[in-house]
Amino acid sequence: MSDPPKLNLSEVDWSDFIQRTAEQPNLPHFERTLDIVGAEGHGRLVVDLGFGGGRDARVFLANGWRVFGVDVTPAAEKAMVDRVPDDQRDRLEIAIGRFHEVDLPEADLVYASFSLPFAGQDFEATMDAALSAVKPGGHFAGILFGMNDDWIADDIAGVTRNWIASRFADMTIVTIDETDEDGPYGGGDDTKHWHYYLVIALR
Ligand SMILES: C[S@@+](CC[C@H](N)C(=O)[O-])C[C@H]1O[C@@H](n2cnc3c(N)ncnc32)[C@H](O)[C@@H]1O
Repeated sequence: MSDPPKLNLSEVDWSDFIQRTAEQPNLPHFERTLDIVGAEGHGRLVVDLGFGGGRDARVFLANGWRVFGVDVTPAAEKAMVDRVPDDQRDRLEIAIGRFHEVDLPEADLVYASFSLPFAGQDFEATMDAALSAVKPGGHFAGILFGMNDDWIADDIAGVTRNWIASRFADMTIVTIDETDEDGPYGGGDDTKHWHYYLVIALR
């Protein structure tokens, strides 16, 4: 049997990922999030942590949300701005930087799709910042890697159900959807073991 694929985070070219995924369809966890928090924004503010190519952020904008997007990769800003219609731009603010180093506004939704685990050694500080930004009555919705994921490493954070229970102890957990299965990655035919939780919680 071959070794499980490892991700060498220091060699990941996020701008390549951003270009590849900017126009790709939204994933099921995004639709699930909208089902729970309500698709229509009505001016509500979402902080999108690690918005990447912006596929989810642009739907939030189109649905009337205000979006505060954070990403460490400068190419994310152009990928996003180039694809946002002029009449939606005034509802979009972008901060380029590491999650825990950006001053996050209080938000109705703090959303993070496949991004927080890559904070690595800054993961706990990142979670502090992310959860502090959820205002009363607001939600957190994010994908967190489980410990069975092939990519877990010193610089790619994984969590357990116990960790989730204690981290979200001061919020109401609405759902924990667990995926623990082999599946494709990187846009090709290669597969890896995916283990992640979609955690949605209400403050
Ligand atoms: C796997 S991509 C996910 C992009 C997008 N959320 C999606 O689902 O298509 C991870 C994104 O997080 C960003 N990122 C990784 N580590 C980060 C950090 N410490 N602070 C801010 N952004 C980070 C990367 O630049 C990249 O755009």
